[in-house]
Amino acid sequence: MPGKPFVIAVSGKGGTGKTTVSSLLVRSFLSMGETPVLAVDADPNANLHEALGVEVRETMGSMREEAFTRTIPPGMNRHGYVRYRFRQALVESEGFDLVAMGRPEGSGCYCFANDLLSECMGELERDYHFIVIDSEAGMEHIARGTIGRPDLLLIVSDPGARGLRTIARIREIATQLGLEPGRIQVVFNRFRTGTASVDTGAGRPIAVIPEDPAIEQADLTAMPVSLVPAESPAHAAVRDLAEKIRVLAKNRG
Ligand SMILES: Nc1ncnc2c1ncn2[C@@H]1O[C@H](COP(=O)(O)OP(=O)(O)OP(=O)(O)O)[C@@H](O)[C@H]1O
Ligand SMILES: [Mg+2]
Repeated sequence: MPGKPFVIAVSGKGGTGKTTVSSLLVRSFLSMGETPVLAVDADPNANLHEALGVEVRETMGSMREEAFTRTIPPGMNRHGYVRYRFRQALVESEGFDLVAMGRPEGSGCYCFANDLLSECMGELERDYHFIVIDSEAGMEHIARGTIGRPDLLLIVSDPGARGLRTIARIREIATQLGLEPGRIQVVFNRFRTGTASVDTGAGRPIAVIPEDPAIEQADLTAMPVSLVPAESPAHAAVRDLAEKIRVLAKNRG
């Protein structure tokens, strides 16, 4: 699939399974041969790297801070230095790369830095089939345009009443940001048989991921969650989701 990558932002309230879904999506794309994938950790408390089993040396946030407060090495301008550091901040792994955004904003104005970072991200994007962004509920980075507008916004939620309210709120923010309703989809996670509602308030969810002891077990044993077996129920459900997303990506105008 040459050309522009398909950008998926995974949002939802705290603890609903954003990181779990993001990392399993990355794994699923890899197993489908849709490489390379760029994983973006846009949560200030970055832990997507742990879920994917890689290490992050620095975040874009810390890099930005440094590139704009320290003396630039001789023979380099600030612009060049930011680009150089950006390449350093990129974690390269088998079939996927990862970049962690870190803190959304420091004190003072970082508009110039953010513009540069957007530019660096833009250049990077050309290499990838899919970009999976583990986002936060506030969607700071999306709102600021640092990571552009996603092709698909997934809202991970439990199917309870509070979950549904959060879905409505995120949908509202996303719509204000100019995202078309068709690009916003709900993923119900930790679904147990007997759970009543599967109505999102705006159509059916794009995926229903079951409660899966293998996911919990991975957490308890500090194993990267993306390494749970492909046949485990939650992983299998995310793989189905990845297949649906592949179709969306192929059919996009
Ligand atoms: N389908 C599932 N089955 C069982 N446990 C799950 C499932 N999905 C997520 N969990 C567990 O729920 C917890 C929260 O998941 P996760 O870290 O992915 O959520 P998050 O939305 O990224 O959280 P945060 O807002 O803190 O970043 C973890 O302990 C994870 O193991
Ligand atoms: Mg998380």
